[in-house]
Amino acid sequence: MNDRLYIFDTTLRDGEQSPGASMTAAEKVRIARQLEKLQVDIIEAGFPAASEGDSEAVKMVAKEISDSRICALARANPGDVEKAAEAVKNANAARIHTFIATSPIHMKAKLRMSPEDVLEKAVNAVRQARDSVEDVEFSAEDAGRSDEDFLCRIFEAVIHAGARTVNIPDTVGYTMPHQFGEMFNRLMNRIPNADQATFSVHCHNDLGVAVANSLAAVQAGARQVECTINGLGERAGNASLEEVVMAVRTRQDVFSCDTAIDTAQILPASRMVSSVTGFPVQPNKAIVGANAFAHEAGIHQDGVLKQRDTYEIMRAEDVGWSANQIVLGKHSGRTAFRERMASLGIEFSSDVELNAAFGRFKDLADKKHEIFDDDLQVLVSEDTSKEENEVVRFIGLKTMAETGGIPVAELSLEFNGQPRSSSANGDGLVDAAFQAVEEIVPGTRNVILYSVNAITEGSDSQGEVSVRLQEEGRIVNGQGADTDIVVASVKAYINGLNKLQAAPHRFNPQSGETV
Ligand code: KIV
Ligand code: ZN
Repeated sequence: MNDRLYIFDTTLRDGEQSPGASMTAAEKVRIARQLEKLQVDIIEAGFPAASEGDSEAVKMVAKEISDSRICALARANPGDVEKAAEAVKNANAARIHTFIATSPIHMKAKLRMSPEDVLEKAVNAVRQARDSVEDVEFSAEDAGRSDEDFLCRIFEAVIHAGARTVNIPDTVGYTMPHQFGEMFNRLMNRIPNADQATFSVHCHNDLGVAVANSLAAVQAGARQVECTINGLGERAGNASLEEVVMAVRTRQDVFSCDTAIDTAQILPASRMVSSVTGFPVQPNKAIVGANAFAHEAGIHQDGVLKQRDTYEIMRAEDVGWSANQIVLGKHSGRTAFRERMASLGIEFSSDVELNAAFGRFKDLADKKHEIFDDDLQVLVSEDTSKEENEVVRFIGLKTMAETGGIPVAELSLEFNGQPRSSSANGDGLVDAAFQAVEEIVPGTRNVILYSVNAITEGSDSQGEVSVRLQEEGRIVNGQGADTDIVVASVKAYINGLNKLQAAPHRFNPQSGETV
């Protein structure tokens, strides 16, 4: 019997710390439901001390999810631990995850604390957390650059204080896999009470080795991996859940453990996270990229047709690729629509909500005859990412372009409840349409990223556009989808504008910065 490898998903916490990836509570709940379907063991739902909104979002996730354990992050101080305990108190299974930095550079430059004070704070935080929940995790932030003797002391002390899981992060993505594996080995052998806790790994991808480091730790004895869908996360991201899970599952000859993940739910989770956050998945991304199972080169195709495993080491359907078949069309009724949405985990709280979504589905079906699950996901993403008090609303767009001519966009919007229109030129239709938006809604923001993705196959696919806006240090991602990509672009820009109006400044638990 292989050991169980626990999957701790931190898409909703570390993933959300990525600039522009912040999610509304409704979006978090939607992703959490998909993570539950995926059968992740622990969902880190957020950092409640950041704000009232973050705390509410963790509470909502804790209320909605019953199969996965819900975890809240807390710095090692009484206020944070109290807020984390409050946020997860109604969870079916709860965990508090407390952390403090242990590397010389972090203790000196960031915390301005001595190692003895750090150790005392860690132990106190674990004891306090244990007063509220049975399941407490402790992380030594920047463990990859910490002194091993000190790590041994602090881990021994927190296990003694009641930590059930001890996490060893490579916070800045600096360590190499062989070093990280060896370090895990030494720590697990040297800490006298190591057998009383599960050892966990948490890696960032700054040098592109987050998954390799996580797997090296698993081989050395780690039995929990902290990771995110699509590798979402600060800077170059966290270890990607799908890569870790499929490496362990595919190479059972190498690993003496396995996860409980329902791998067929991987692709739907990837699509959902990408569409909610507006972070596209690169086509050559392992497991979930559009090319991951596309054997296009003639020689490969020939080999795969003769015998699959000449080039395929995994089956596309095992990670959810076959799920995206035509599911609805122009003539599908409300009941079929509601049932298909329910199978995707999307429930409507009222008939009004169902009717509104069904109306949008019918509009889409008029333009696009075959509707796929991914189209339905986007239909809902558009809705859940809308701010409650939208300041800007899209009404209509007319565009004119011809080769050699100057593109023109004529735009109608509602701004602060008033209908407004404008006309502008630009370097291409998208630029003209953005200039038209800016005429109506002036500001100092910059478009720092613009990307278009086809949601499904074929030239009638909806284009899903992400626009990242930056204004006064804040960054938001706006998303929009339409069969006309200029309309999708304007919708994405407007979604970003509404988020900028509504988004509170966010507090980062690790850097201590508010942006
Ligand atoms: O990267 C890191 O060290 C973290 C900790 C809070 C676990 O995210
Ligand atoms: Zn992290």
